[in-house]
Amino acid sequence: MDNKGWSLKGSLLPLLLLVSELLLGQSVASLPICPTGAVNCQVSLRDLFDRAVILSHYIHNLSSEMFNEFDKRYAQGRGFITKAINSCHTSSLSTPEDKEQAQQIHVHPGVKENEVYSVWSGLPSLQMADEDTRLFAFYNLLHCLRRDSHKIDNYLKLLKCRIVYDSNC
Ligand SMILES: *[C@@H]1O[C@H](CO)[C@@H](O)[C@H](O)[C@H]1NC(C)=O
Repeated sequence: MDNKGWSLKGSLLPLLLLVSELLLGQSVASLPICPTGAVNCQVSLRDLFDRAVILSHYIHNLSSEMFNEFDKRYAQGRGFITKAINSCHTSSLSTPEDKEQAQQIHVHPGVKENEVYSVWSGLPSLQMADEDTRLFAFYNLLHCLRRDSHKIDNYLKLLKCRIVYDSNC
């Protein structure tokens, strides 16, 4: 593989490891919600939502940072953004377009809608020998991660508002 380009081991891997460490390891995620060893630990729905919202905000922030960093370092002048529009594998999942649409959705705990799964088949593209193809595959993945984490963050806040504050927020 050429050196002027970019190799997974060389640069992105430490970045990914750092992110997964941040997400799963120390910092926010590991703060215990119950005292260690607590047997009957009760957590209020409000506390759970608070925690979920903090985490989803954090994940969205990290996804954005990762996308921005990748864009700055590897995507300049390659015109990836035009290609990346509408190319997330998660686009096939129907989600509300905006806040208004999201507010129309009725939540029925326990009732499962017809579940639709979206399969990601992008791994081979991440391993392509062709640099441009490979870089675009990473670019697109990070772009979609940022987009989807943003949606999750917004809908979670909306859900918290509806469920915890009865829409008074
Ligand atoms: C992520 O959070 C940090 C710390 O709050 C902030 O400085 C940074 O601008 C945020 N990044 C993005 C892309 O929003």
